[in-house]
Amino acid sequence: MGLAGCPGGNQQDAGADLAPRPDLVTSSDLATTPDLATTPDLAAAATLSGQVQPIFNATCSPCHVTQTPRAGGLDLADGASRAALVGVVSTRCLTPGPRTRVVAGDPAQSYLIDKLGAGAAFCGGQMPLNRAALSQQDIDTIRSWIAAGAQDN
Ligand code: HEC
Repeated sequence: MGLAGCPGGNQQDAGADLAPRPDLVTSSDLATTPDLATTPDLAAAATLSGQVQPIFNATCSPCHVTQTPRAGGLDLADGASRAALVGVVSTRCLTPGPRTRVVAGDPAQSYLIDKLGAGAAFCGGQMPLNRAALSQQDIDTIRSWIAAGAQDN
């Protein structure tokens, strides 16, 4: 009954909408706030080949590309990384429950982000292991790729 009553209810309230609404007036300020209006970081999502794989190559390759077997059973080599990440469940982190390395479209549920020290709790060591954490910019780059669907791009 709530939904069916909506159109009639709106007409009834139409007069009230003409009254001064301070909250609506001030909301126009948001449009002139540059960072809220444009959010350039989200405008162009990072791509795997353009921004994400170069991070893996530069920082993760000693253990996840050239080492045999690959550390943690995770191959981050160019051409192999996406298949090893997206939808693949970690065999090591089973408590409190199995973790998927990358959940396409959902950085907050992606174990990879947690392992970089930028999310929820994780098992084992923070990545890159025994090295300085990735910069916030690099982590945001990986997040942005995942949020846009972790595509093969
Ligand atoms: C010095 C070696 C080393 C480096 C460098 C390193 N890793 Fe790891 N990584 C490991 C080891 C060893 C494990 C397995 C133990 C663990 O999970 O802590 C692992 C596990 C992982 C896992 C969990 C895999 C799973 O399914 O449980 C992820 C995700 C990961 N690394 C991502 C990265 C990323 C991304 C980088 C680069 C930013 C990186 N690692 C750099 C050694 C390394």
